[in-house]
Amino acid sequence: MDHPLQGFDKKGFTATLLKWFKDHKRRLPWRESPTPYHVWVSEIMLQQTQVKTVIPYYLSFIERFPTIYDLAMADETEVLKAWEGLGYYSRARNLHQSAKIIMAQFGGIFPSQYEDILQLKGIGTYTAGAILSMAFGKKYPAVDGNIMRVMSRVLYMTDDIALSKTKRKFEQLMNEIVPDEDPGAFNQSLMDLGAMVCTPKSIKCEQCPVRAYCRGFQLNLQHELPVKSKRSKPQTVSLITLIVQDDQGRFLLMRRPSEGLLGGLWELIQFEAMDIEEVKGQPLFISFEDWTIERDLGEAIHHFSHRVWMMHVYWVRARLVQVPEEMAWYTREELSTVPISTAHKKLLEGFVSSQRK
Ligand code: ADE
Repeated sequence: MDHPLQGFDKKGFTATLLKWFKDHKRRLPWRESPTPYHVWVSEIMLQQTQVKTVIPYYLSFIERFPTIYDLAMADETEVLKAWEGLGYYSRARNLHQSAKIIMAQFGGIFPSQYEDILQLKGIGTYTAGAILSMAFGKKYPAVDGNIMRVMSRVLYMTDDIALSKTKRKFEQLMNEIVPDEDPGAFNQSLMDLGAMVCTPKSIKCEQCPVRAYCRGFQLNLQHELPVKSKRSKPQTVSLITLIVQDDQGRFLLMRRPSEGLLGGLWELIQFEAMDIEEVKGQPLFISFEDWTIERDLGEAIHHFSHRVWMMHVYWVRARLVQVPEEMAWYTREELSTVPISTAHKKLLEGFVSSQRK
């Protein structure tokens, strides 16, 4: 097969795209003064989150931690607080730890070498390329899923973009395409084209500045691209979930550890088990003064991005002599005042409304 760039007019493509970007670029706060720190923070926030959600978080984060030094000196709780609601909290922890590394190893100055940047926590080839091109003006590509979507259409490439070898292939190709002049603007022009024109669905080819260069458009196969295999099946976890009430009708909830999935949120009493019989020997059950299983409420499913909870739900009435530290009883009214995981909130709401009837 021919090389994907054979016969491709790189110069025409990049020049046309850059010209379009001048007039159509989105005004975004991190573009106002693209220091390495600003670009870094914004790119980490943008990793799993939409631009419009990120903007207010970005602004308040930079106000609270104006420099790498301020971030490195902050308490982790403060950094997490500033991240509250953005999700994927390991991003915030990595950002914080990397700020400390930059203080310790680079005298507080963001490194400008590809290898040094890649060694920071939470930074992969995409983010390193974005920072180097946008903040340092260096000729590096920044290839993420959006860029692969756009370029698989432009170059008519049918490689599966879910595979890491495809990402490496695109990185090599983009290495050859990124222009010497303003590589940062070029990378951002592809991001904006991907966000506004060459979108996942309802592609706006009629508005596209580079459709003359686009093989997908010429073949009318743009809608078939990119090829993306489904991610491996999310892991299914079998759980026994208990709606535990005392004789006053209060609900027993448990607080999740602050690390990991749904860290710090409250939830129903839940065990990783296939069968209620397995659960009866658990310390919690043993510590119940007395208990009865009132009803088998059946199965419920909740989907996370990488996990599926298969919950078999039971309604249990119990009395506790001593409430463990991580647990508490809540009245029906109080339920709305505690942060509860969505999966269990739905179960509780269903249960409460059925009790009202
Ligand atoms: N998505 C990821 N990075 C971005 C950026 N720098 N500007 C706009 N959208 C983005």
